[in-house]
Amino acid sequence: MNQSSTSLAGTNQLDMNQPGTSQAGTSLPDMNQPDMNQPGTDKTLPSIKQPGIGQPGTSQHGMKQRGMSLSGMKQTGMNQPGTSLLVRKQPGMSQSDMNSFRVRPAEARDCAEILRLIKELAACENMSDAVKLTATDLLRDGFGDNPLFYCLIAEVHNQHKPSGLVTVGFAMYYFTYDPWIGKLLYLEDFYVIQGYRGLGIGAEMLKRLSQIAIRSHCNCMHFLVVIWNQASIDYYTRRGALDLSSEEGWHLFRFNREELMDMAGEE
Ligand code: ACO
Repeated sequence: MNQSSTSLAGTNQLDMNQPGTSQAGTSLPDMNQPDMNQPGTDKTLPSIKQPGIGQPGTSQHGMKQRGMSLSGMKQTGMNQPGTSLLVRKQPGMSQSDMNSFRVRPAEARDCAEILRLIKELAACENMSDAVKLTATDLLRDGFGDNPLFYCLIAEVHNQHKPSGLVTVGFAMYYFTYDPWIGKLLYLEDFYVIQGYRGLGIGAEMLKRLSQIAIRSHCNCMHFLVVIWNQASIDYYTRRGALDLSSEEGWHLFRFNREELMDMAGEE
């Protein structure tokens, strides 16, 4: 990747969560999404998973202590026979219910669930208070005539839910533009609830995101990872992601509303 691919326009995760802010300054050209109308893809979950695996020393975020690798977690009994499919069996789920997940584009009716997961992810990042957004905001900003973001959601069966399904993960993304290389997909949030991690749901969402990016003529996918989220840094690095901060020395900046008001000459 050359330097031309490093523009971080529209990449500020906090801005997404501040009240009254939108993706101002983020170009949203050609929002057509070849994948958006595809039905969800059902995937069978891997058959073995040990309860609580890999979690000692980790936060809810799956963040590990130094020196603790995810691959190490994976080895600890992951393939032992006779273990249950999921880390924590969810209420209302039969074993057969837990055998598959589906990834599909989010719809307006998913806003409440998306907000729930946004809050969970923020809590993992010790940033719960930063989430000012409401489901109404999400509905307005993501599902109107000119959506500012898109989401994929992952869901599994749960007979206790009226819909028979429960949302266990999401990926929020949008398109932005780099003046040197053109259109790029920006991955804003990526999250799978703890009990369903390590089952390939994240991999399936990344696959779908990659397909969307390629079919939308994007040249790359950008995302931010907070410096202490080593588990996620490892996760993306294992898939070939470049850390542009260390490779190229970029820093992400932000003007808060106060500075904007100053510069705008408004009280
Ligand atoms: N928990 C987590 N990972 C596990 C576990 C477990 N219990 N068991 C095994 N793993 C391993 C898997 O084997 C796999 O290893 P691999 O990278 O060698 O393939 C990897 O961890 C998980 O792969 P998937 O199952 O494809 O992904 P998953 O469904 O767990 O989702 C995600 C990945 C979204 C990063 C998830 O771990 C998560 O939500 N983490 C906490 C939130 C977070 O940090 N999100 C990213 C922030 S950065 C951003 O949003 C741009």
